Amino acid sequence: MALREIRLFGDEILRKKSRNVEVVDDKIRQILDDMADTMYNAGNGAGLAAPQVGILKRLVVIDMGQGLIKLVNPQIIKKEGKQEVIEGCLSIPNKWGKLIRPAKVTVKALNENGEEIILTGTGDLAKCFCHEIDHLEGILFTDLVTE
Ligand code: NI
Repeated sequence: MALREIRLFGDEILRKKSRNVEVVDDKIRQILDDMADTMYNAGNGAGLAAPQVGILKRLVVIDMGQGLIKLVNPQIIKKEGKQEVIEGCLSIPNKWGKLIRPAKVTVKALNENGEEIILTGTGDLAKCFCHEIDHLEGILFTDLVTE
């Protein structure tokens, strides 16, 4: 188990755009494992994106209580409907905000073996996909809050 330091709001790396992963190798799998360890160690985290641990690569881990999802180069390929959600972020401790997210999203990504996968999420999972993929663009939920 290897924990990585979580970068906090104000750290410039959170505002940078992450690069695509060209090859899903052991090094990438190690980063994904470390990200998962770091997320679980933080206790209340449902997801973590690589820039949050100081790595500008398009990597995301999510666990909304239905098991760990590891995503490489995730892209939202379809958004449907709208929902009002409350979000927080491990990089912005003790702050929550209300915002509007799609009710359902479809994500295309590679898994940790470099195979293409398509995932659909509704409700909290849809929100989490959007939140984590935003991190890869340097976007934080605080940019989108309505309240
Ligand atoms: Ni976040």
